Amino acid sequence: MAEILVVDDEQSMREFLAICLRRSGHKITLAENGEDAMERLRNQPFDIVITDLRMPGNIDGLGLLTAIKSGHVRYTAAPNGTPSIIDPEVLLVTAYATADTALAAMKQGAYDYLTKPFQVDEINAVIGRALEKRALVEENLALRDRVAGRVRLANLLGKSRPMQKLFELITKIHSARTSVLITGESGTGKELVARALHTEGLRANHTFVAVNCGAIPDDLMESELFGHKRGSFTGAVTDKSGLFQEADGGTLFLDEIGELSMGLQVKLLRVLQERRVKAVGSTEEVEVDARVIAATNRDLEAEVARGAFRADLYYRLNVIEVWIPPLRHRREDIPLLAEHFLRRFGAEHGRSLQLSTEAMRKLETYDFPGNVRELENMLERAVALSSSAVIGVSDLPPVKAPRSEPVAEFPTEGVDLDRVLSDFERGWVMRALEQTGGVRKRAAALLGISFRSLRYRLEKLGIEKGDAPTDDEAPTEDDK
Ligand SMILES: Nc1ncnc2c1ncn2[C@@H]1O[C@H](COP(=O)(O)OP(=O)(O)OP(=O)(O)O)[C@@H](O)[C@H]1O
Ligand SMILES: [Mg+2]
Repeated sequence: MAEILVVDDEQSMREFLAICLRRSGHKITLAENGEDAMERLRNQPFDIVITDLRMPGNIDGLGLLTAIKSGHVRYTAAPNGTPSIIDPEVLLVTAYATADTALAAMKQGAYDYLTKPFQVDEINAVIGRALEKRALVEENLALRDRVAGRVRLANLLGKSRPMQKLFELITKIHSARTSVLITGESGTGKELVARALHTEGLRANHTFVAVNCGAIPDDLMESELFGHKRGSFTGAVTDKSGLFQEADGGTLFLDEIGELSMGLQVKLLRVLQERRVKAVGSTEEVEVDARVIAATNRDLEAEVARGAFRADLYYRLNVIEVWIPPLRHRREDIPLLAEHFLRRFGAEHGRSLQLSTEAMRKLETYDFPGNVRELENMLERAVALSSSAVIGVSDLPPVKAPRSEPVAEFPTEGVDLDRVLSDFERGWVMRALEQTGGVRKRAAALLGISFRSLRYRLEKLGIEKGDAPTDDEAPTEDDK
């Protein structure tokens, strides 16, 4: 069924078309001339316009065609602003088809033309083809609408090419059952991508459960994931179901999967293969349907190579890999993100804020080793510190160049090199700790030094343990 507008000055022709098109199941609206047709086109969307070429009045068939194809008469009163409007297909009807007028009409974008007198079959066939074309165009537009040109997918923002690609990928895989491994540097948005996969997909009505594999002590992790039976260990006073069951029908997000112990890796692999879990202390297996999305900022392949991560589990998780590029590789996203965070933090303080041009330039050229999270933190701090409506360069943290620039003039009183160097070192160490919320192991990774070396430096620089509140990690094998 199509909405068809028939435009002809001849009543008999209008009636003939109306009768046979209605018989084919279409909805027909009639107009006597070009002006009348324009009026109707503005008030209602049509799929097809069949118009006579020669009509009295100011607007003939070609004029109407031009008006339609140039967007001059477009139905815009649709709800929710301007949806993707596809202009109607135009079929021209003429008694005197000359090669010229036909060619001119096709050039202007007419779908086809018919010469009078024509058969009912003929017009039905042309309408059928025109509708098929529309369906295709509509489908393509819907696809494109869903991704391209969008600067947001769920809570993810991004207009850069890599982010657009990422949106496309998420749209393709959100409803699959297969595991996904999300990789990317710290602060690139891995958790946000995991949540987007969940909320955009078919599991959105079920629970999204996030668990940080690095934050739960190994001996508790198994019961966290799979649950336990009462009395299975000291403290297990009741039966408890695990996170896998909590995420049944939904998504289980295993963050920092690289931190999972070897023992648990084996157990997780089994669950992924069999889709059944066995609670600690139980002999019974229960079926679960949780989609597993894992994330890591480690190079898992390298971990596999050095024997710290099971290859079979890696391949199970990595059925689809989603890599999020670092922010410095997609600088186009910086202004978009900066403005977003500024609006958000401004709103929290009831203020409407702006970035100065220089401040924006500074952000756009900065490398953001801590990626989006670092940008977010920077702006939160700037909003808290600045009292003016325009955030300037001075409100941003002093970003020291990685290479220390020699000072122009050597101070006559000389310098205390050890102090200069340790101040410099302290600055970077503090920034790394800030960046990681005080987690020293991650700070060490950001600084490219071992955990042990960072601990030594913290002591040497006199940075108190109180400055690293959430630190609770013991050194691992690679710190030796
Ligand atoms: N594309 C984005 N659009 C909007 N906000 C983003 C985007 N990417 C990241 N963020 C924000 O940046 C912060 C860090 O994101 P997220 O926690 O998802 O990163 P991550 O990759 O999981 O980091 P980590 O490796 O440290 O766990 C969050 O506050 C998140 O909301
Ligand atoms: Mg994370």
